[in-house]
Amino acid sequence: MAEFTLPKNSKVLPGRTFAASADARRKKTFRVYRWDPDSGGNPRMDRYEIDLDQCGPMVLDVLIYIKNEIDSTLSFRRSCREGICGSCAMNIGGTNTLACTGAIVDYPGDIAVYPLPHLAVVKDLIPDLKHFYAQYASIQPWLQAHSPAPPDRERLQSKPDRAKLDGLYECILCACCSTSCPSYWWNGDRYLGPAILLQAYRWIVDSRDENTGERLDNLEDPFRLYRCHTIMNCTKTCPKGLNPAKAIAEIKKLLVSRTM
Ligand code: SF4
Ligand code: SF4
Ligand code: FES
Repeated sequence: MAEFTLPKNSKVLPGRTFAASADARRKKTFRVYRWDPDSGGNPRMDRYEIDLDQCGPMVLDVLIYIKNEIDSTLSFRRSCREGICGSCAMNIGGTNTLACTGAIVDYPGDIAVYPLPHLAVVKDLIPDLKHFYAQYASIQPWLQAHSPAPPDRERLQSKPDRAKLDGLYECILCACCSTSCPSYWWNGDRYLGPAILLQAYRWIVDSRDENTGERLDNLEDPFRLYRCHTIMNCTKTCPKGLNPAKAIAEIKKLLVSRTM
């Protein structure tokens, strides 16, 4: 039987421990993945004992507290701190989610925090999303219409047509779904993954877009679309409660229906 081992420099080693002060009343331990590309060393898990009375209620509050008060070298992305920008996506307690909407009380015991899985790491909790964004660009995520726009108003939609965008336009491109998808782990170089396919479907069903046929042509491919095997991790993990697996199924249905 084949045996697979990690290269020596990718083994995650035990790291440093930062103890809480003796008078801390509500202590909780956070184990945080650390890797510094400039150090030449292995990744490590640092332990931070946090007095929860000293910081806000969300996991992002703890990371900001660590960076401000304990260890300024910790690197992570965040911006809006209200679940809108998608930049604080990471793996918390074994699930991909947003650190800013992840309440500490929802995680019993110690909390392990890793970067989103199966992506190259830039530093600490920051994954490399260059390929993800290139895939997003490949679906041409903007309205494409050949007919001239009305001279005096926007291109309007009926209420039912507008409703077709519900459950799609809310996607914040956090990549939690794509990086939880086993098919994307193994074929992410060619499979577009749930986030990008949900975005593709958002333009396919937009009644104002006139490039539906070309958009479907672009997806009709054994890898770009059909690596989805309906495992549903994507839908289970989406922190916005969206259903990328359903969007993918709808694209497949449209491709079948145009052959009949
Ligand atoms: S349903 Fe498709 S996209 Fe979602 S996790 Fe499964 S294989 Fe990936
Ligand atoms: S579908 Fe959900 S998990 Fe996937 S990128 Fe959009 S918001 Fe994030
Ligand atoms: S900081 Fe914007 S989604 Fe978390």
